[in-house]
Amino acid sequence: MRVGVKVQKSLDGFENFIVLFPKGGKPKLGGRRIPERKDLENPIELGDFKGELGETQLIYDRKNRRWLLTGLGDGPAGPREWRDAAAAAQKALAGLGVKQAAFLLPADADIFELVTGLMLSGYTYDRFISDPSKKNRHLSKVTLLLPEKADRNAANRERKRAEAQAAGVLLARDLMNAPGNVAGPAFLAKTALDIAKASGGRITARIKKRKQLEKENFAALLTVGRGSRNEPHLIELEYNPKGKRTLALVGKGITFDSGGISIKPSAAMDEMKYDMGGAAAVLGTFRALAEMKIPHRVVGIVPTCENMPGGDAYRPGDIIVSRSGLSIDVMNTDAEGRIILADALDYAKEFEPELIVDVATLTGACVVALGHETAAILGNEGGEAWYGKLRDSGFHTGEYVWPMPMFDEYDYLIESPVADVRNTGGRNGGTITAAKFLQRFADPSPWVHVDIAGAAYCGKERGLRPTGGNGFGVRLFLDFLGRF
Ligand code: BES
Ligand code: MN
Ligand code: ZN
Repeated sequence: MRVGVKVQKSLDGFENFIVLFPKGGKPKLGGRRIPERKDLENPIELGDFKGELGETQLIYDRKNRRWLLTGLGDGPAGPREWRDAAAAAQKALAGLGVKQAAFLLPADADIFELVTGLMLSGYTYDRFISDPSKKNRHLSKVTLLLPEKADRNAANRERKRAEAQAAGVLLARDLMNAPGNVAGPAFLAKTALDIAKASGGRITARIKKRKQLEKENFAALLTVGRGSRNEPHLIELEYNPKGKRTLALVGKGITFDSGGISIKPSAAMDEMKYDMGGAAAVLGTFRALAEMKIPHRVVGIVPTCENMPGGDAYRPGDIIVSRSGLSIDVMNTDAEGRIILADALDYAKEFEPELIVDVATLTGACVVALGHETAAILGNEGGEAWYGKLRDSGFHTGEYVWPMPMFDEYDYLIESPVADVRNTGGRNGGTITAAKFLQRFADPSPWVHVDIAGAAYCGKERGLRPTGGNGFGVRLFLDFLGRF
């Protein structure tokens, strides 16, 4: 979708218009007159259209033009209202088969959020759909019509930032929804190289393949990947605008999680193509970073492999001496994410970041605890200092995060009689014991773990969120970098 910005009085040349209404109030026309529909300027008294957030009502004028009345809801509009109203309008017009529209903006419009709503709503993954009538429908061009005295340059800056962010989210969604047979570890590695190439030297990417991983002792990553013919890779991205602080982002990149020898039941196993949602969040963030002119150094680390059973697969009972030297007692090969993250966290510390954030579809227990609307955050003491800013970013973007406890009392659950740590802590408190395991490898660096098992994908479309993989994390991290 392309978005243009114009300051002009005339409405000529457009056939479809979007107008925002606060609940029960007058339309926000940005000081315009609509001679063809003078009645638009008065509140709608029949009550059929109330202006609830996301409510839409289509009317026409004497020139056969469409006017989509779109509700902004109650009270002062915040980021969520601008996003959701724009998303609803986009979906309503695209559903009619409309391709172009003009969006009448009031002076107080949040252009960044509004463009975000336009670009990220109504996504479907249609790469493998042959029938053109079943392919995704989306507005292809929206022109933002600013009020007369608006600052066009400022509006364009906001538009560009939103477009960059949306490109990152859409990349993350496409990666997540690409099936395991298409997007394996090598595919993610290639994507990282493409991001670096497109950045014009602002981002560098390095890929470690099996030989290099062996040389540098990434034993945990290599072990999990051994059951698959698609070999493990470690992706390393770096963006360095000579910034003040360094953030390390580590993303779980299991391109398919069969469970391995501790194989999963076949019901819903197909969803495990989304088990690289953490990797997608990191790659999507990098896709947007440079264009958004983030002022901090960001290092991205993505350990990626496929968790498969096979003649050379790792087994329950195996003991792995990880890159850090800590030995791991494998109780269950389906708790594989934490194992590959162990090596990645250990490696991330070498960049001496102010903070390591890892992001992973790590535990089914997290889906049970928080559902699909919120991700869990857990961290060590140094990480907890960042919770306030992370939660603020969650509120701002709608990519909510919420803390879970990390009391020492949970530690005994991952003790092993034969190794330094074991990779499962039983059914109860599964999200916490998984984070406790990671902590062993993240300490002493300040560190926060984000469990996106529920948040990263969902069967139900809602607002900006599509069915399937949704790219959760990209907007959260970009916003967080603005507060870092
Ligand atoms: N990738 C899964 C976690 C998951 C489950 C994500 C459902 C999204 C939806 C992870 O690798 C896993 O299998 N975890 C196990 C751990 C258990 C064996 C200790 C789990 O949560 O069941
Ligand atoms: Mn698993
Ligand atoms: Zn997994």
